[in-house]
Amino acid sequence: MSSKRIPRDGDDLDPGRLPRHVAMIMDGNGRWAKKRLLNRIQGHEKGADTVRAMVEACREIGIPFLTLYAFSTENWQRPKREVDALMALLIKFLENERDELQKNGIRLAAIGEVERLPGKVRRALDEVMAATAANDKLRLILALSYGGRAEIVRMARFLAEAAATGKVQAEEIDHDWVGRHLYTSDVPDPDILIRTSGEMRVSNFLLWQIAYAEFHFTPTLWPDFGKEEFYRILGDYQQRERRFGKVDTGADTA
Ligand code: FPP
Repeated sequence: MSSKRIPRDGDDLDPGRLPRHVAMIMDGNGRWAKKRLLNRIQGHEKGADTVRAMVEACREIGIPFLTLYAFSTENWQRPKREVDALMALLIKFLENERDELQKNGIRLAAIGEVERLPGKVRRALDEVMAATAANDKLRLILALSYGGRAEIVRMARFLAEAAATGKVQAEEIDHDWVGRHLYTSDVPDPDILIRTSGEMRVSNFLLWQIAYAEFHFTPTLWPDFGKEEFYRILGDYQQRERRFGKVDTGADTA
């Protein structure tokens, strides 16, 4: 980190060097609750406030894509009570935020095995996604029943079928082809991946897409994460040199 001043709000950031796509692993709701002798569900409820704050921050500073890991394929194995509460929280979030998303030009999208979600959640999701489909200031992408390996398996099955029926030839398969057959086909790869709660793992999130993402891990638990720390992380991101496997030609550095 250089001696540049640390951003305290979005205005201190260089608008020309903002990430286009921020991906977040929202971790630590359970530990946040435990520390306060609350139940895990109360931790998730507080976590939903951080979701709102991050959506607002991205919109305010002009980041066009935000992907949040809201529910993994592995999360189905949590106790039914917790899964039900997370689904209920999602419905509440969609109902409460619908107008706000619309007013602010935010488009809602979802990636993952959404067909596994309860009908009530799917209907609420479909409704808000359809209502906001034409918005283009920020795309809020919720990863729901999402797993990176499952996404790659899904693409491989599609490829096997297409090859077996002669719809695709081996020579046509390249990085672009694979990218076009993932859930994120019309989304740029994440520039930065942030994970809260001190865990330094990727946990099956956007495995293909994060090939060149900058990683940032913070010990802060998700419900305690806020705009100020987010801006600090973005300030750090702006000072990193991204080479994408190439050598520095000196053109971009003093
Ligand atoms: C991980 O914390 C968090 C989740 C599995 C769920 C994320 C959900 C939210 C932030 C709330 C609602 C989301 C939306 C989009 C409205 P954890 O439970 O694994 O925490 P722990 O590791 O401390 O136990």
